[in-house]
Amino acid sequence: MTVAAPSPEPLPASATSALLAWFAEEGRDLPWRRTRDPWAVLVSELMLQQTQVARVIDRLPRFLARFPVPADAACSVADVIDEWRGLGYNRRAVNLHRASEAMVERHDGRVPEALDDLLALPGIGPYTARAVRAFAFEFDDAVVDTNIGRILARVVGERLTPTAAQRTADAWVPNGCGWSWNQAVMELGALRCRPTPVCDGCPLAACCRWHQAGHPSPDPAVRSAAVSTGQSRFEGSDRQGRGRLVDALRLGVVADVDLAAVMGWADDHARARRVADGLLTDGLAVRDGATWRLP
Ligand code: ADE
Repeated sequence: MTVAAPSPEPLPASATSALLAWFAEEGRDLPWRRTRDPWAVLVSELMLQQTQVARVIDRLPRFLARFPVPADAACSVADVIDEWRGLGYNRRAVNLHRASEAMVERHDGRVPEALDDLLALPGIGPYTARAVRAFAFEFDDAVVDTNIGRILARVVGERLTPTAAQRTADAWVPNGCGWSWNQAVMELGALRCRPTPVCDGCPLAACCRWHQAGHPSPDPAVRSAAVSTGQSRFEGSDRQGRGRLVDALRLGVVADVDLAAVMGWADDHARARRVADGLLTDGLAVRDGATWRLP
């Protein structure tokens, strides 16, 4: 017989109101908070996953002007990769193109609202699916990203499994407030409940077990569900070589013989070829004869 896990504790009503009031007062005015267009929300969430807020603010309008609806991004993967320049992690561009194709095929070119339909789109995971539901359709779904994962673990006072983190987040969403609640928790994690927290004046300080206990070590957020460990070193990484090759392909074809130099490893043809082959697998490059190009 399996024993059901105990229900997570709800947040005290006073903490819920305090966080919503804090967000109303101190939350940033960000472009993706001014729209409920599901496509704009989806694109912004994918961009924000690995790219800084300031850069997304700069690039989101251009992307949406070039691809105003999913059908536009479904036309050409090379065009989406081209527009993704400077945003990093180019695989997201391929995924966005593939998700757009699926939306055209399955959903009349619209972003679906059912969780299962969103999760079935290429490259859309539990975070992005729930973020679209909460931020575009205003459902009371709880999203758990790295910032929210940190808050959940600290308030509960223990490192959480993915299931426990999601269940706790679900239990905290006040009825009918999914949009503002998720934005508020995310904002608290972005501005205050940082890896090094600023607890003075935090609306959750009174109910935060970790804070109340005097910040004992280890911080429960470390290695808790969804909390990232930070990006690995970029300089000299395979990721840097991948980025350089995709940047070169945005300008034109690259010959086999130039691959290693373009990727910054002139003395290491084997590494260049291995990493370039990874781009083929990911749908970011095509090899025709002895030259490489965008798909
Ligand atoms: N990062 C991901 N989604 C975000 C949002 N809606 N607001 C601020 N930062 C975010």
